[in-house]
Amino acid sequence: MLKTGPAPQPGILSISPYVPGESSTPGGVRPIKLSSNETPLGPSPKAVAAYKAVAEELHRYPDGAAGALRHAIAQRYGLDAERIVCGCGSDELINLIAHAYIGPGEEAIYSEHGFLMYRIATLSSGGTPVSAPEPAHRADVDAMLARVNAKTKVVFLANPNNPTGTYLSHGEVRRLHQGLPSQTLLVLDAAYCEYVRRNDYEAGLELVATTDNTVMTRTFSKIYGLAALRLGWAYCPAAVADVLNRVRGPFNVTAPAIAAGVAALQDRAHVETAVAHNEKWLPWVTAEIEKLGLKVTPSVGNFVLIHFPSARGKDAAAADEFLKARGIIMRRVAAYGLPDCLRMTIGTEDDNHQVVAALAALLGRS
Ligand SMILES: Cc1ncc(COP(=O)(O)O)c(C=O)c1O
Repeated sequence: MLKTGPAPQPGILSISPYVPGESSTPGGVRPIKLSSNETPLGPSPKAVAAYKAVAEELHRYPDGAAGALRHAIAQRYGLDAERIVCGCGSDELINLIAHAYIGPGEEAIYSEHGFLMYRIATLSSGGTPVSAPEPAHRADVDAMLARVNAKTKVVFLANPNNPTGTYLSHGEVRRLHQGLPSQTLLVLDAAYCEYVRRNDYEAGLELVATTDNTVMTRTFSKIYGLAALRLGWAYCPAAVADVLNRVRGPFNVTAPAIAAGVAALQDRAHVETAVAHNEKWLPWVTAEIEKLGLKVTPSVGNFVLIHFPSARGKDAAAADEFLKARGIIMRRVAAYGLPDCLRMTIGTEDDNHQVVAALAALLGRS
């Protein structure tokens, strides 16, 4: 580290930079990329057409208020467009929330294996990240509440969580909210909510509608298949939307992203196909991998956390190398405190079969 020159704000050098999922394999063969929880079905053709249609207008600034998109979201979910804030991915919204609400000496709570951006955003705002232990790879409301104090500005909860795939029921999320003081903001990150098929799950709309200190974030990167465009949104209490609109860049969402986002929302059939695909392949992948003797954390998202034994040659690091040599890229999750696991995104039918065959070969079961 440099000893001279401008020093960054406290906390910045404690950040371990986020390492995205890999996208290439050593042999250069076209990989089966299952490392970033992208949809195997690609974007809606209608979204692609809308994106292309903007090409001749690239010299124009986008609508800084992303009005068409906010209204399309509001219409789709029955929301108040004034309380929607769009961002360059939900990552940007997480960062904006941290910058606006967390300062030096203040704290943000997240669960032990929670999405890494919460820690990064908190540190980059000068705040102190506080991790709550997670028994059984699932956020623990009591452990989170036990860490709340007068300095707690934000509680981040990914529901379902990445990389574990587990979720909290609406009742548990409500209990978490009830235990928070009114000056603490609860951020419900529902990046994978469209995939969840559970009667006791609610993405967060109800709590945002009925409380003054809950925000829900959503993304177009996952089921909508628009990760490259970087598009997310937050549904907020009016006062929080006002704050985020003050701190965001004036043109933080691009015109192609707005156009594609509106079209993607309207293509309900594409989303339903993705849900049906996941409903079929998530249980299949889970069961087939368990049959090989590996533990899989029960997931409600479009990915699974696979636990590997500690035996040399069969551990997570060795499995990762073995799979990569066969063109299959999963995600190492040691940075999440899960060194014995790999996270696999549910792929196409062929991808899923290839993964199971490769794992069987690794474990000598083929
Ligand atoms: C839980 C969770 N939240 C947020 C994000 C960020 O998504 P975006 O692409 O909208 O920035 C991800 C991406 O992996 C995620 O897993």
